[in-house]
Amino acid sequence: MERQIYPYARKVLFKFYPETAHTISMHSLETLASTPLAGRMLQSHLRVDDSRLSQNLFSTHLRFSNPVGLSAGVDKNAQFLRMANMIGAGFHEVGAVTPKPQGGNPKPRIFRYPQYNVMINGLGFNNQGLDAVQQRLMHKHPAAIPVGVNVGKNKWTVNAIDDYIAVVRGLQGHCDYLTINVSSPNTKGLRDLQTVDFLREVVSKTKSLTHNPVLVKLAPDLKVDFAVELAKEAVSAGAAGMVLTNTTLDHRGVDEKHPVAGGLSGRLLESQSEKMLHEVAKELFGKIILIGVGGISEGTGALSRLENGASLIQLYTALVYKGPSVIHEINSWLLHALEVCKFDNVREFIGSNLRK
Ligand SMILES: Cc1cc2nc3c(=O)[nH]c(=O)nc-3n(C[C@H](O)[C@H](O)[C@H](O)COP(=O)(O)O)c2cc1C
Repeated sequence: MERQIYPYARKVLFKFYPETAHTISMHSLETLASTPLAGRMLQSHLRVDDSRLSQNLFSTHLRFSNPVGLSAGVDKNAQFLRMANMIGAGFHEVGAVTPKPQGGNPKPRIFRYPQYNVMINGLGFNNQGLDAVQQRLMHKHPAAIPVGVNVGKNKWTVNAIDDYIAVVRGLQGHCDYLTINVSSPNTKGLRDLQTVDFLREVVSKTKSLTHNPVLVKLAPDLKVDFAVELAKEAVSAGAAGMVLTNTTLDHRGVDEKHPVAGGLSGRLLESQSEKMLHEVAKELFGKIILIGVGGISEGTGALSRLENGASLIQLYTALVYKGPSVIHEINSWLLHALEVCKFDNVREFIGSNLRK
């Protein structure tokens, strides 16, 4: 049903500025999810609940009922947890959250390019800040699905480590994992924190403050060898996982006539993100949990990420172009792939390319 409706809804939504369209759709879905009958009907239609897709991950034995999650940015302020469960997500990464609220960069700051299935966003960590998110998560966590929080820094903070520590300390116990985000391109100097020294310090300090697994999210624009080195350092400092990748600054072929500032997400990011995942997995698969994100929009792309070492995948841009049923589509496709390969569980796909 939703698959037939979304092309019409999309026509209407795309008449609005992207942030307005996002706000309208998220609030509408959250309202539906909070309405007992409609919420249950949509949930039973959209969720693929099959034990063959489920995994227990991290030493806290978190249960992920399927491997397809919502990536950071979809729900900056932990307002849409019911929506995430209703549309079938296996997990949900809230944020990025900074210690203090901030408005982000001037608008317009999100641009759609439907001809390429990509977006460019230059948001700059607009969010309501730690206190607001903490209040919500105190009431909503534990949720129906695992909830991670993506951690950022305020744009005016000079000593970045203080901000990561403040958010991690404030959310300790109110979420299921935390992602140190040093890879968004829209906060000046943030990507410069992708150094061995900073990652070692931020991971070891934040880890000592929380029982939650701490992950690190990297940019796809790093040299691959360097990304592998950073990942190894983060892991030796105690990181439980890596999220690969954030958006890219490579806009080739997209906005040449009218250049805009920001990170590109969606289809054209797919191979770059996958390559970085694969290279990091060659070194670290089996030692940590890898989350693959960037340009995933269908079953084949999702499966390929799993085969290259990701235990979980995330998406954002595909939600905009294909609608929430993309999660159902991917999970159904994975079940079909399991049957074709005569596998019992999605775990058998994970890392299978690395074992060849
Ligand atoms: C509008 C928008 C906002 C985003 N905000 C964040 C963020 O706050 N923190 C973060 O780590 N990634 C953020 N991202 C990046 C996504 O989490 C994801 O890594 C990236 O979009 C690639 O996935 P996709 O191609 O499926 O969209 C954002 C992406 C978009 C499109």
